[in-house]
Amino acid sequence: MSRLVYVNGDFVAEEDAKISVFDRGFLFADAVYEVSTVLDGKLIDNNAHLRRLSRSLSELSMAAPCSDEELVAAQHKLVELNGVDQGLLYLQVSRGVADRDFFYPSHNDSSLVMFTQKKSLLDNPKVLTGLRIISVPDIRWQRRDIKTVGLLAPCMSKQAAIDANADDAWMVEDGYVTEGTSNNAYIVTADNKIKTRHLGNEILSGITRTAVLKFAREANYEVVEEPFTLKEVESAQEAFITSASLFVMPVVNVDGKDIGSGKPGPVSLEMRKIYIETARERADL
Ligand code: PDD
Repeated sequence: MSRLVYVNGDFVAEEDAKISVFDRGFLFADAVYEVSTVLDGKLIDNNAHLRRLSRSLSELSMAAPCSDEELVAAQHKLVELNGVDQGLLYLQVSRGVADRDFFYPSHNDSSLVMFTQKKSLLDNPKVLTGLRIISVPDIRWQRRDIKTVGLLAPCMSKQAAIDANADDAWMVEDGYVTEGTSNNAYIVTADNKIKTRHLGNEILSGITRTAVLKFAREANYEVVEEPFTLKEVESAQEAFITSASLFVMPVVNVDGKDIGSGKPGPVSLEMRKIYIETARERADL
């Protein structure tokens, strides 16, 4: 049976779902998105995702497609209709349909599309091996705090990683790591501090990042929100990334050099365990 997807108020079979060729998301990447995790059929940290969506919309003067209550009801219905126990819910709001012109159209008919992806997230085999990362120049635009669908630079960087037999890439700007292609980047320093870049226009404020930093502080780790260099990565005892789809994932090698023991480190694994346990406890119905 095919998946049911949500398009502007309707739940339709994926092969019947249609978006106009004049949709500004398609023509200009004039659209924003969120990816939320589903565990045990429940959404993880959905309120935080909706707050970030609302901020992305407001930074682009884009109208919300519906109220938050309607949105949440549609999200739950979609997860239920598709019988998703574990996986992802993708949500995209575009500025809608208008004849091609760079100016924002005067109407405010944003469009909303959502779909689910069933995926085994908890038993990711990469947790056992850790990820191999390459560094690449950060060639993205300067408003990475807005979660837009303009994702060609991350696609190019991920492909460069695959071509180099690695798993993913960390992007570097002015000598400092900004973040991963679709995740936030961290090191555990030789003196046991968890270091990740501060928030700003240069990176996305990850929902998982916020949760993990809170848990790290509660577990008495010193958290330093500052940029770090690749030289610092080399001397770190551990490294990891966070995102909604990967939770906390250990990084064991960057640019061919092992980090610490070259195996998933105890701090990364502890943070992963705490994050998953707490996320499941607090999940929405
Ligand atoms: N990506 N940084 C970037 C550039 C991202 O695209 C993402 C998320 C994150 C982590 O944010 P969060 O913890 O809220 O997932 C950081 C999603 C998962 C994606 O594009 O598929």
